[in-house]
Amino acid sequence: MAPVCGIVGYVGARQAQPIIIGGLKRMEYRGYDSAGIALWTPDGLETRKRAGKLVRLEAELADRPLPESRQGIGHTRWATHGGPTDQNAHPHLSGDGRVAVVHNGIIENAAILRRELEAEGVVFRSQTDTEAVAHLLRRALDQEPGLAAALRAVCRRLEGTFTLVVLDAAQPGRIAAARRSSPLVVGVGQDENFLASDVASFIEHTRHAIELGQDQVVEITADTVTVTTFDGDPAPVKPYDIEWDLAAAEKGGFDWFMRKEIFEQPQAASDTLLGRIDQSGRLCLDELRIDRAQLRAADKIVIVACGTAYHAGLIAKYAIEHWTRVPCEVELASEFRYRDPIVTPTTLVVAISQSGETMDTLMALRHAREQHAQVVAICNTNGATIPRESDAVIYTHAGPEIGVASTKCFTAQIIACYLLGLFLAQERGTKFGDEIAELVADLTAVPAQMAALLADLGPIDALAQELVGVESVLFIGRHVGYPVALEGALKLKEISYLHAEGFAAGELKHGPIALVEPGLPVFVVVPPTGRDHLHDKVVSNIQEIRARGAKTIVLAERNDAEAWAQADHAIPLPLAPTLFQPLLAIIPLQYFSCQMATLKGLDVDQPRNLAKSVTVE
Ligand code: G6P
Repeated sequence: MAPVCGIVGYVGARQAQPIIIGGLKRMEYRGYDSAGIALWTPDGLETRKRAGKLVRLEAELADRPLPESRQGIGHTRWATHGGPTDQNAHPHLSGDGRVAVVHNGIIENAAILRRELEAEGVVFRSQTDTEAVAHLLRRALDQEPGLAAALRAVCRRLEGTFTLVVLDAAQPGRIAAARRSSPLVVGVGQDENFLASDVASFIEHTRHAIELGQDQVVEITADTVTVTTFDGDPAPVKPYDIEWDLAAAEKGGFDWFMRKEIFEQPQAASDTLLGRIDQSGRLCLDELRIDRAQLRAADKIVIVACGTAYHAGLIAKYAIEHWTRVPCEVELASEFRYRDPIVTPTTLVVAISQSGETMDTLMALRHAREQHAQVVAICNTNGATIPRESDAVIYTHAGPEIGVASTKCFTAQIIACYLLGLFLAQERGTKFGDEIAELVADLTAVPAQMAALLADLGPIDALAQELVGVESVLFIGRHVGYPVALEGALKLKEISYLHAEGFAAGELKHGPIALVEPGLPVFVVVPPTGRDHLHDKVVSNIQEIRARGAKTIVLAERNDAEAWAQADHAIPLPLAPTLFQPLLAIIPLQYFSCQMATLKGLDVDQPRNLAKSVTVE
């Protein structure tokens, strides 16, 4: 299991199923690809589990309802050991079905344990590291009848990180859990108690919580909570009251939706890639229901969009032209419509819109269709007007975006455009299959790189503290780094109300450099070092502004010594090909703007004068 799984346990006076499913929903933001539940019943444990989102589990529960129960455990899984299948979903049962286990973390000695158990005749039904725990626990119960005692015995054999929550059919009214490294909290209610990876999952039921320490086991009943160490010694409990309310819980514990959405980007990116690439690295965009001959005949691509979606389009242009050799224009939807653009039946128009309702973009696509162009929508909202009126749609699977300033949809839109670009290259034969497979491999590495970047944003907090009083900020970049600079500046304008401008670094000397004065913060997006002259040119640009007293905040590959030599502040980026770097470089910029607005006491999610979806021209 990965560290983002969600775990819920409930024992008490009420029906467990709705509480468990509700709790899992509140942790959806963590990201997952399968879900499951196990309830205690007098006839034994009953489980339901399904690959996919919770709606699929709920559909399964509607088809095959579970009996009433006041005790159970639930899980949302983000696949690591074994794919996201029904079988690999949690809970996992012992061979005789007596014990059920859900797990968050990674059991590092799982392979050894599995071999040992298989040698003793145990048959495994999944590819997970977790299933071994179910079998071990079942065996331990023969030696140590108490649930907590048996779980302690199992934990002493496990290596790695884990939160485990377990049920035993033979011990009604009791749930045990263990914690090493991965999160676990106890919610203390009236005649009921909860276990969860995150207080968000039980905040609507109780605000009283107990935090568990490292290497502790807890056993709960409806009215008791007993905490011990893995060795069975009583452990001191740390009760506390949760201060935030239900609305915050919907933000999964984040102060702002925007911040939560920034952190959801690895999941949004991988969900947008999911199912669109086959095993051999070929693109399979089945949803692109445009005649293949027409796709091959397209002689021009025009991207229309507004705001952040427009910046995603600007980035996509570099990749699409490079991969397909088809000219690609990017235009603000509000401009396109009124300038008599050249659009013909062989033009492929791509309308990018998170909401799918932006009027400017809708009018642009209607205009394009009047000229008999083929229109592909890239959209995050199922069934919205823009996809409905388009010939085909590629959905970004970023989940709902609530913060007005778009973040996770920006990166998901770039990915969707890249999928389209690679698909066109495949169809038109402008890239060999192995070249495409190589690009796809780099692209699929991006979600994990995003996660690594998000795990280390502390220096940006410090930077925002330092810059909170400034009145103006510049952003510069070249190539795909240029639209990243534009988007970084837009984020800061939108929610921090600061004067911020993005410029093409090469254009500085033609005017904007006059703005540079001592102390002016300038963010610089530096291309990867391998990129011929591009990298060195940007490093020279940094020298030019630094010589004039600018405070340089440099985003560059972590091993880029030349760039670091010119940095007042360094923001290291994971190594990625030039075209994929924007998917990473934008993250610290989004986070910086969120942090600046927070420090200024502004409403990050609903900035003044702005709307999430602008349905007027
Ligand atoms: C509004 C939002 C922006 C968004 C733009 C386009 O102006 O405030 O964040 O980028 O609309 O929205 P769309 O839904 O078409 O992507």
